Amino acid sequence: MRIPFHRPNLPPDLNDLYSDSIKNGWLTTGKQVEKFEDKLSSYLGCKHVVVVNSCTAAMHLSIASKGFEKGSKFILPNLTFVATVECGEYAGMEPVLVDSDPQGFNIDLNHVEDILKKEKNVKAIIPVHYGGFPVDMKNVFELAERYGLFVLEDAAHALESTSSAGKVGNTNHGAAFSFYANKNLTTFGEGGALATNDDDLAHSVKNLSLHGITKDGWKRFDSGEKWEYDIIQLGYKYNMPDIAASFGIWQLNQISDWQEIRIEIVKRYLTGLGNNKGIILPDYTKNDGNAWHLFVIQIKSDSWGITRNEIIDKLVEKGIGVSVHYKPIHMLDYYHRKFEYKSNDFPRSKALFDSVISLPLYPNLSDNEIDYIIATLNDLHSQYSK
Ligand SMILES: Cc1ncc(COP(=O)(O)O)c(C=O)c1O
Repeated sequence: MRIPFHRPNLPPDLNDLYSDSIKNGWLTTGKQVEKFEDKLSSYLGCKHVVVVNSCTAAMHLSIASKGFEKGSKFILPNLTFVATVECGEYAGMEPVLVDSDPQGFNIDLNHVEDILKKEKNVKAIIPVHYGGFPVDMKNVFELAERYGLFVLEDAAHALESTSSAGKVGNTNHGAAFSFYANKNLTTFGEGGALATNDDDLAHSVKNLSLHGITKDGWKRFDSGEKWEYDIIQLGYKYNMPDIAASFGIWQLNQISDWQEIRIEIVKRYLTGLGNNKGIILPDYTKNDGNAWHLFVIQIKSDSWGITRNEIIDKLVEKGIGVSVHYKPIHMLDYYHRKFEYKSNDFPRSKALFDSVISLPLYPNLSDNEIDYIIATLNDLHSQYSK
């Protein structure tokens, strides 16, 4: 059997995605983007959504919009994808990495408060909803209020998540979503969005996403407006094309159904792997608000005669695509060298990195495939347990 780590949902006929505006020849940012932004803001319950070509772009533009001074600091978890740290790096800011919560995968908020008491130049915090499990945002917003921080949620995994502060995305700060190929919702492989209730942030991100131009292409060429435009600030080229937005509209109509299917898969994994003494399963009782983007198991190394990496090799040999989320930032060569981190600086995230395996979790995973993954993991433990 061959089971990829991810398999996207495609419409039965790709031609169904083409709106009249696309068939009439409008391919780049236009009516479909506008429609997708409106639909996303209704879904998230927020005032503005600006769609761009990646979550990284949405985060970069949010930080750029704030105009923080070079050398100022931003807080983020060590256990995340590199995009979370890149967006501050682009602005010449200095990352302050925080280890994972002793009980989970998200940023350790107790530690954040200790840092804020000591560090005077922290301007922003970027919590990451790891795998869709929401950070305690009520707590984060209280800290932000007390210490004057901008909160940019890295919600790459969290389109369907609800935190202690409500629906992720309904924020007076900013939340950035990813529509990359293997995310819960994709816009033809690449895409992202910034959600916010802040008018200034939304307008700035929109403007920066297309060169800092006063009129986008749609307005200049298709609405009977004049050609003339100006550039009001140094911008970027991060806009989303209409064809990607039309794919996103089709996907967005189904995300609640797809989330329910993923939750059924989660339950099936939990039952099937429940007696496997070699792994720690994610906590379903903490399900509240989890988008369930990832299903991450932890290998109990003292219960196995082979390493986590060897287990991954064996799963791959059996045709099962898996992943590791994430190699922590302090272990990535560029960051390790630049900030002279030591390998034991962040013990919890390092231990998680050494033990985790992400299993396939997507709506078109068949019951047979789920049972095969469960049986393979259970067989491997019977064969290689210590
Ligand atoms: C936690 C996290 N943040 C940010 C990103 C970046 O998303 P994008 O590829 O849309 O820029 C990813 C991508 O996988 C991610 O996992």
